[in-house]
Amino acid sequence: MGERQPLYEGKAKIIYPGPDTGTLVQYFKDDATAFNARKKDVITGKGVLNNFISEHIMNRLGAAGVTTHFIERMNEREQLIRALEIIPVEVVVRNVAAGSICPRLGLTEGDDLPSTLVEFCLKDDALGDPIIAREHILTFGWANAGEFDVMVAETHRINTLLTDIFAAINVRLIDFKLEFGRPADGSGGLMLADEISPDNCRLWQVGTDEKMDKDRFRRDLGGLTEAYQEIARRLGVTIPQAF
Ligand code: TMP
Ligand code: ASP
Repeated sequence: MGERQPLYEGKAKIIYPGPDTGTLVQYFKDDATAFNARKKDVITGKGVLNNFISEHIMNRLGAAGVTTHFIERMNEREQLIRALEIIPVEVVVRNVAAGSICPRLGLTEGDDLPSTLVEFCLKDDALGDPIIAREHILTFGWANAGEFDVMVAETHRINTLLTDIFAAINVRLIDFKLEFGRPADGSGGLMLADEISPDNCRLWQVGTDEKMDKDRFRRDLGGLTEAYQEIARRLGVTIPQAF
């Protein structure tokens, strides 16, 4: 296993070739980064928790008719996924003001937004994932107009589904980030890619607004593993004891 050559290594995951054509293996690391990797640490077990939580969420979205890259979880740290050509756009959905939008637009964390806000960032670490508009996406050909419309419509549908999934476990879905891709073999339309876990969602306990997501790391609050374990437990996801 250690001999495999990664195809791509990101901040929290590694992509390896898959066993069959059109497949890849997505490996979840324990690395935690924030602020475009200016803050870094290793949090033992985070990768395992995100692998299991993301499996659960992707399966629930799939059952509701969302097309995703997820095929199956292979082991504690790896998933078999469909090979996609990733659209280099991070789609950020905000239901409540938190994180980077607060200083950018002078909002206070926890403010309700007039309606759900969908923002786009270019997926480019060297540039610091700058915020972009639809016009940039179309002008530079990162997606075409049809793909853009599908991405936004799917994003709203996923927001509704995820908001309900988390509300059912007494958690508020504040915001989250999605990525989409096209099947590398040219078949079919857009698919949801990447992961959905407390690393790329803001999740607050109903009633207290206690943070149950990666803000525990970003803000040095401690207790990240415990928070992710609690999310898993409430979702009914069983995590192996030793990691
Ligand atoms: P932000 O407030 O830092 O812009 O983040 C908004 C949401 O998107 C939050 O749930 C974290 C998630 N996110 C990622 O998953 N990856 C990223 O690179 C960024 C910037 C945000
Ligand atoms: N994942 C990004 C980073 O490493 C941003 C974040 O989630 O805060 O910097």
